[in-house]
Amino acid sequence: MEIPAGLGRVLVIVPTYNERENIERITGRVRAAVPAADMLIVDDGSPDGTGELADAMAAADPGIKVLHRTAKDGLGAAYIAGFTWAAEQGYDVMVEMDADGSHQPEELPTLLAALVDADLVIGARYVPGGKVVNWPKRREALSRGANTYARVMLGVDLHDLTAGYRAFRAATLEKIGLDEVVSRGYIFQIDMALRALRQGLKVVEVPITFIEREHGTSKMSGDIMGEAMLRLTQWGVTERTRKLRNP
Ligand code: GDD
Ligand code: MN
Repeated sequence: MEIPAGLGRVLVIVPTYNERENIERITGRVRAAVPAADMLIVDDGSPDGTGELADAMAAADPGIKVLHRTAKDGLGAAYIAGFTWAAEQGYDVMVEMDADGSHQPEELPTLLAALVDADLVIGARYVPGGKVVNWPKRREALSRGANTYARVMLGVDLHDLTAGYRAFRAATLEKIGLDEVVSRGYIFQIDMALRALRQGLKVVEVPITFIEREHGTSKMSGDIMGEAMLRLTQWGVTERTRKLRNP
């Protein structure tokens, strides 16, 4: 499909760490679903050769770019590097998408259509019409629980704060101020949504179908979860104290 009028140039950013089995398929699907959108693969020196494979794809298709970073430094850090590169190149819309096929490129037109009237669009699982396919019950319960905890602690009206399929306007990222974002791991997603809301920006959730990966493994770890719980609790306490002082 075509990019909706007025949105400008779109860049789909895909962070990778050991996604050799997934990177070609996801790239092909994005290029087929929205041919006018460019892609940026941000690879953290994957030992499995994902970076080299991405370079080969970029050599064959001028719509594909690659950013190589030296070591695994977290999802948030990879996206900040990608957003910074995109801003320098003059892109108007930056999309976040996982490499493993969990986010359907065929649903990107829905996200872009919603961005016409929003500053940030979140592809959400936990809204009517949203779905999770093939996640073990335990993982879904954990993710739903984290979202409920975040929603209550932070007092915000969003149902999938940890979702990783998103479309930002470049102006949104500028207002958020990427220099101040210190979250490294998956908590980065909550951090960004919260910052957008604090700026008074319009954040919209659209339902998506999230399908668990078939190849490779999740990079979620105890450390990543620990960082998330720690920051969430800190922010929640700060937010509650603020509300007590200014009801
Ligand atoms: N460059 C880079 N560096 N990429 C990374 C890193 C990193 O340190 N860590 C993860 N990634 C990439 C993976 O290669 C993949 O493309 C994407 O980030 C998501 O990682 P997964 O490991 O597949 O995440 P998940 O399936 O466990 O988690 C999903 O759910 C989370 C919670 O809802 C994702 O959708 C996350 O975005 C989401 O926050
Ligand atoms: Mn995944």
